[in-house]
This record gives sequence, C-alpha cells and structure tokens, in this order.
Amino acid sequence: MPKLCVNVDHIATLRQARLANEPDPVHAAFLAELGGASGIIVHLREDRRHITDRDVEILRKTVTSGLHLEMAATQVMRDIALEARPDMICLVPEKRQELTTEGGLDLLGRERELQDFLADFSQEGIKTSLFIDPDPEQIRAAQETGTEYVELHTGAFANAGDPDTSGQELERLQNGIQLGQEAGLRINLGHGLGYNNITAFAATPGIREYSIGHSIVAMASFVGMEKAVRRMLEIISRFPD
Ligand code: PXP
Repeated sequence: MPKLCVNVDHIATLRQARLANEPDPVHAAFLAELGGASGIIVHLREDRRHITDRDVEILRKTVTSGLHLEMAATQVMRDIALEARPDMICLVPEKRQELTTEGGLDLLGRERELQDFLADFSQEGIKTSLFIDPDPEQIRAAQETGTEYVELHTGAFANAGDPDTSGQELERLQNGIQLGQEAGLRINLGHGLGYNNITAFAATPGIREYSIGHSIVAMASFVGMEKAVRRMLEIISRFPD
C-alpha cells in the first residue's frame, strides 16, 4: 500500500490569518498521525506566510512517522534544513505572489547545481525529492541530479476543467510514472489530490507516497483531522504497492 503523507500548511495559514497561536500545525500533525498518516509535510516558505521556523523545530521533535520539508533550493533554506534534519526534503519552486505552488521545478540546465545541493542532504542520511511536472525531459534531468525520489505534479490533472483534458493529463502522469520508474526513481504524487479524484490512481502500482493537504484539511474542518485522514486511508489502502 502506498504511504499517505499529510501536508498541514493550511492549519498554519488559518493561525496566521489572526497572527494567533491557534490552530497549531503541531496538534494537527499529531492527530494526522493518530489517523494513520505515514508522514507529515510542511513547506517552510521564504516569506513564512504559514509554517514558521518554530513549527519546524517542534515538529522535528514530535513527529514520529516522518517529517518531510518542502523548500526552495536556496542557501538559506539549505542551512535551515540541514540543521532541522527532516526525514526528507522536497525541492519546490517558490514565487512570492502565488497562492500555492504553481508548477514543477524546472530542472533543465540545473542538473549539476542540484546534484551538489542534494548531495549535502544524502550525505546526512536525509532523503531527497524534486517536485516536477510529469514531462520526459524533467524526469531524465531528475535522474541526472541523483535524487532518490521525484514528486510528480498532479495539479494539471486535478484542476482540468473537462473530462478530455483530465484524461490527457492523467495519461501524461501515467507515462511519467512509468518513465520515472524505468529510470530508477521512486515516485510520489501530489498537488490537488482529494477524495474525489485520487481513485484515478487506484490501479497504478509503484507509487510510494501521496502528498495531500488541502482536501484533507478541508474535510478535517468538518469531521476532524483524525477521521479525515482515516477516510483517505480507506481509499488508498485498496491501491496496489
Ligand atoms: N506537493 C507539493 C510540492 C506542494 O507544494 C503541495 C501544496 O503545498 C502539495 C503537494 C499538497 O497539495 P494540496 O494542498 O493541493 O493537496
């Protein structure tokens, strides 16, 4: 069964809306783990708009399943991440104006630079992942960086407005998954996945992790985090290894 990793950024977004102390993503992470999450994901953005350094520090001490840190490939973030020692880092593109991560990282021409960047983490026993669009050239470039994992961006599939586009985007993802697996990469999927569209991958073998935030936090706002995670796990538990 693939792993379900829960992104708790939105809990911090709600807290920051009032610059208050609650709700606390640390509590959300604990409840997500109680619900069966295999990992907790946070994105420490350059502008600290939701997750803060304090959150990462406490989550590192309290999360027992696995802490995954999404981050921009900058020297400042590199130093913070090496100090925090998450179980995995995932490099993502970051723009100040965006509502959420808008697309995959463009690796073309940056293979050598990213290889050096990732090597510092691998040497410390921290797993590495790159968030990329499911395009053959990006997948080949990812292989060159020496990363162990890639997270294929499922946003274009999730946000497709009509069945034809959604079908095309799903095919693009399925081809990317296969190519990545042939290249020896471990494949995670994330962005825009939820209770209503995750079943598109019900027959896709070899996915290591699903990274889900918005949909689970939305469900959690009505039924609670633990139940929301369990509900997603009930679906994913039927997926092949
Ligand atoms: N993967 C990455 C790289 C992301 O940036 C995000 C959003 O923070 C997610 C997965 C989760 O996406 P969603 O909140 O749409 O489930």
